[in-house]
Amino acid sequence: MLKNKIAFITGAGRGIGKAIAFTLASAGADIAGVDVNLEELKTVMEELSKTTGRKAIAIHADVGDYGSVETAVEETVKTLGRIDILVNNAGITRDNLLLRMNNEEWDKVIRINLTGTFNCTKAIIRGMVKNRSGRIISIASIVAEMGNAGQANYAASKAGIIGFTKSIAREYANRGITANAIAPGFIETEMTRALSGEVRKNLIDQIPMSRLGTPEDVANVVKFLASDDASYITGQVMHVNGGMYM
Ligand SMILES: NC(=O)c1ccc[n+]([C@@H]2O[C@H](COP(=O)([O-])OP(=O)(O)OC[C@H]3O[C@@H](n4cnc5c(N)ncnc54)[C@H](O)[C@@H]3O)[C@@H](O)[C@H]2O)c1
Repeated sequence: MLKNKIAFITGAGRGIGKAIAFTLASAGADIAGVDVNLEELKTVMEELSKTTGRKAIAIHADVGDYGSVETAVEETVKTLGRIDILVNNAGITRDNLLLRMNNEEWDKVIRINLTGTFNCTKAIIRGMVKNRSGRIISIASIVAEMGNAGQANYAASKAGIIGFTKSIAREYANRGITANAIAPGFIETEMTRALSGEVRKNLIDQIPMSRLGTPEDVANVVKFLASDDASYITGQVMHVNGGMYM
């Protein structure tokens, strides 16, 4: 499905980003994995290369820092040739009720989740325009649509990603570039492992499919959006949530 495509995936060191890297590589893509945690990322990229036979490079970069992203993009283009698929996946939470939320918790979540998406897209889209082809897939969240008590910063950052995606989709549709967002519900990763048993039970009660999602549930939709089968889909939000939000 993705033979010889080159994918730049942020936050590829674990969780959903790691599953996306494995899924795209299994479909034939070479991978530039980007993360702030270089040790974990290197292990993942080595394993990926061994199991799929694709090229996989590990690059340390903070998506919230434009200079760091630019360097990562240059290194990818130098080593792999170009970038066909950008997956904006790196993201963090700093949950707190609004009255207790400090500026740092607000700023950090916006900087990494939303400005990070802007930074990577801006640094990569120029090459896509030149190639008159490209796929931009950004990981938003169900809470962008539903809201969530304790996550005003996170929900705002993810809703921002959706507005950003729709604008980019309109700006670059006639250059052969599509931009879509995926809004996962609650997925089994380190991010959700921190939830207490009671919160988890409460969540599962609200999911018609009665389970959290797997990272692969999200990665398979990324693979589809990156493929030729999705060439007429742009500016959309794909919900992957077991029916929790319809
Ligand atoms: N897990 C869920 O339930 C869920 C639901 C909806 C959306 N999401 C979104 O999916 C994405 C992945 O989530 P996850 O659960 O796999 O998270 P995770 O915490 O398991 O992994 C995130 C990865 O991003 C990396 N990262 C963090 N800050 C970074 C930065 N500044 N620059 C580069 N890399 C950075 C981390 O080192 C880590 O490897 C996030 O954007 C998250 O908001 C997750």
